[in-house]
Amino acid sequence: MTVMMKSAPFDQGAAEAFAERIGGTIDSGAVAFMLSVGHRLGLFDTLAGMAPATSGEIAARAGLAERYVREWLAVMVTARIVEYDPAGRRYVLPPEHAACLTRGAPLGNLAVYGQHVAIMGAVQDRVLACFETGEGMAYDDYPCFHQIMAEDSGQTVAAPLFDFVLPLADGVTDALAAGIDVLDAGCGRGEALRAMAARFPASRFVGYDLCPDAIGFARDAARADGLANIRFERRDLTGYDERERFDLVTSFDAVHDQKDPEALIRGLHGALRPGGVYLMQDIGGSARLENNLDFPMASLLYAISCVHCTPISLGQGGAGLGTMWGWETAEAMLRGAGFASVERHVLPHDPMNVWFVSRKA
Ligand SMILES: C[S@@+](CC[C@H](N)C(=O)[O-])C[C@H]1O[C@@H](n2cnc3c(N)ncnc32)[C@H](O)[C@@H]1O
Repeated sequence: MTVMMKSAPFDQGAAEAFAERIGGTIDSGAVAFMLSVGHRLGLFDTLAGMAPATSGEIAARAGLAERYVREWLAVMVTARIVEYDPAGRRYVLPPEHAACLTRGAPLGNLAVYGQHVAIMGAVQDRVLACFETGEGMAYDDYPCFHQIMAEDSGQTVAAPLFDFVLPLADGVTDALAAGIDVLDAGCGRGEALRAMAARFPASRFVGYDLCPDAIGFARDAARADGLANIRFERRDLTGYDERERFDLVTSFDAVHDQKDPEALIRGLHGALRPGGVYLMQDIGGSARLENNLDFPMASLLYAISCVHCTPISLGQGGAGLGTMWGWETAEAMLRGAGFASVERHVLPHDPMNVWFVSRKA
């Protein structure tokens, strides 16, 4: 039986308001891309250290070509990010704006996340092909992925690690100080693991990651820091099966885009010694689309899923659960893996992510 839907009369006002909103969305997309440009060129940091200045002075301070800097500044002025005095043709970044756009900014550097938008444009043609073939992609397809990820998790994981993240798991900080074995699964450039190795010299740290360039960076950084208690190994965690080797296992945003997240979680459970703890950070959205309408930056996260996390998993022949696989899915997998207890936390500084503390019997 065909159900005929009675169509409502066309609402001209609603259509025009919607068109205006879409225009604003495209405008904001361009600004997000230019945030990435400004971040990567250090322009926000340059501006933050300057009194009102001309484009020539700003370009000279940044060591960049004036004509391009002037055009970038025009984007920033029309976006109401930088203020402009037409009389003296001088630009200034208000300190209240610098507070979320510069390296080390007190509110976190939001310009870092503009890079996720920029990377989408860089891989658009590959993604279009994926839509047609249903195939996936590989990490090598994404320029600068591990650098961007390290900057991202440097803010959400490494910076709050000792004051907010590790205290989520009772007893873990004391155990680290006394000396335990730690694994970080999907460690990327290993920011968080290196910070822990420096803080807890009595413990031993291992980082596994699929990508040789990320592991190479992590090793060089650990060597430069003189860390003797840390080891990074290029390792595909598909089918991971080590037994009772670690007291603490961590994964930071590294499970949902695996080939088989459920099998990995089972493997990580098996790799823990009795009484061990698995600390897992992943995206905190719900598995149900309708629950995510007001989730922070939900559209960005679904877009990252479409362009990165889903094709990465499918490219490994995997499940393609996507970025918004859902905390419900993650929690069910943790319980199914056999953990004796599973706690879920959200940290105030990081509403996009969820933190699970799971203990092995
Ligand atoms: C979103 S990144 C997170 C990286 C890092 N944990 C961080 O927070 O910066 C996911 C990481 O998982 C790694 N990864 C993906 N599939 C993997 C696999 N099959 N085996 C090992 N690592 C994998 C990627 O190379 C990447 O570094």
